[in-house]
Amino acid sequence: MNIKKFLTTELMAEAAGKHIIEIVKKKPDSLLCFAGGDTPLMTLNYLAEAAKQGEVDFGKCSFVSLDEWVGLGKETNGSCKQTLFDHFFDRIPNIDDSQICFFDGLAIDMDAECKRVDHFVAKHEGIDFMLLGIGMNGHIGFNEPGVRVDTYCHVIDLDPVTKKVSVKYFDEEMNVTRGISLGIQHITEAAEVMLMANGEKKADIVELTINTEPTADIPSTLVKNSKHAVLYIDDAAASKL
Ligand code: GLP
Repeated sequence: MNIKKFLTTELMAEAAGKHIIEIVKKKPDSLLCFAGGDTPLMTLNYLAEAAKQGEVDFGKCSFVSLDEWVGLGKETNGSCKQTLFDHFFDRIPNIDDSQICFFDGLAIDMDAECKRVDHFVAKHEGIDFMLLGIGMNGHIGFNEPGVRVDTYCHVIDLDPVTKKVSVKYFDEEMNVTRGISLGIQHITEAAEVMLMANGEKKADIVELTINTEPTADIPSTLVKNSKHAVLYIDDAAASKL
């Protein structure tokens, strides 16, 4: 896995944004996947500003969501859908809902929801680029420690660490217990995967991700099995290396 280290989070986000713009310029009809959570927010902001300035046109791209908390929809502050729409989709000129396939955490039939999203990815012949955050326990999307590596979309019980960390996203107690997510197969089959981490609190998991052979116990290590994987980290996240 390629590792790119940056002095600050801002420089990391700018470099990631520029890289994504290059991908879209090379393949304007790319299928892109951006994680929710805090990590990608600065990069998404960079991209939204660039799109507003006309430096990049997402008009022909398609987007698939990475994951969602089961039981939550866009109405809930802190859901993945709300995060991505507020920070990115609703700020981008020239894209409409038909280009976006997002997990509905409120769907009654979660198996059908998995099939719907699997079908969207398959129809586009796979994902061109994924921007993934690393959870404190090494999860990527809701591919939790111990996840089956041969899965596409699936519903999974959340790891205790994920449940504990989840409170940072929500205004009130949500008691989330399950997640719906793209699978490890989607990640290893994607043309390019960018794993991203910033801040000192991610230093331990970054060190483990880099220095551990691919294992489902630390899902972020499985990114090393992807066709083309790169890790973007800032100085603080690199402090245990
Ligand atoms: C969350 C989300 C992921 C995210 C990851 C890291 O639980 N389900 O999409 O990438 O965990 O989150 P953060 O970037 O807030 O640390």
